[in-house]
Amino acid sequence: MKILHLSASPRRETSNAWWLSQQIVGQVARRSAAAEVRVRDLYVDPIAHVDSEYADALGSPVYAGDENAAGGALATSEQLIRELEAADVVVIGTPMHNYTVPSTLKAWIDHVVRVRRTFAITPDGKAGLLRDRPVYVGVVSGGRFSGSGARQADFLTPYLKVALATIGLHDVRFYSMEGLAAGADMVRAERERISMVLDTAFSRA
Ligand SMILES: Cc1cc2nc3c(=O)[nH]c(=O)nc-3n(C[C@H](O)[C@H](O)[C@H](O)COP(=O)(O)O)c2cc1C
Repeated sequence: MKILHLSASPRRETSNAWWLSQQIVGQVARRSAAAEVRVRDLYVDPIAHVDSEYADALGSPVYAGDENAAGGALATSEQLIRELEAADVVVIGTPMHNYTVPSTLKAWIDHVVRVRRTFAITPDGKAGLLRDRPVYVGVVSGGRFSGSGARQADFLTPYLKVALATIGLHDVRFYSMEGLAAGADMVRAERERISMVLDTAFSRA
C-alpha cells in the first residue's frame, strides 16, 4: 500500500493541516499490512509554477501527451504524475487560503492535470485517464465554511473535487477542522471531534 501524503501548509509540521493529514495517514496505514508513505511537502520542496515552456508545449501540435516530444518542458509534470500514479491512496493536508487552496497546491494541480496525459478531450467533455483511488483531504481554516455556522464562501472543496475528477480521481473524501482562529481551546476541541469522526469513518472502511 503506497500512500502519497501532500502537505500544503506554510507552517509545515507545526500546522493543523499537517496534524490532521497525519491522523488520516495513520488511519489508512493502520489498516494495511505494509504501508509505505511518500511525503511531498509543497513548502519545503516547492514546485515551480508552470512556465511559458510548459504552456507552449501543451499548445504545440507535436505534443500528444508525450514528454519526450516536448523536450524538458514537462519534466516536473511527468515526475509528479508518475508519483501520483504510483500511489494507492492520496492524502492531502491543506489550509484554506482566501477561500480556496494555497498557491503551492494549485501549482501541483497545474502540473498533474495535463491534457492528453491525465485527461482527454472528448466530444462529451474532459475524461480522466488515471485509475481511480481513494483521496482523503484534510482541510483546516481560521473561520467556518460549512454547516449552519458558515460565514464565508468555500471554493476549496468544490474546486478540488472538480480538478481531481478531471483526471479520474472521483473517490474523494473531505475532513475539516474549522474556526481555528478562535484560539487554542477551539483547536483542542476540533482535534478531539475530528479524531472521533475519523475513528468512526475508518472503522467502517
Ligand atoms: C494567506 C492566508 C489566507 C487565509 N485565508 C483564509 C480564508 O479564506 N478562510 C479561512 O477560514 N481562513 C483563512 N486563513 C486562515 C488559515 O486557514 C488558518 O489559520 C489555518 O488554521 C492555518 O492552517 P495551518 O495550521 O495548517 O497552517 C488564511 C491564512 C492565510 C495565511
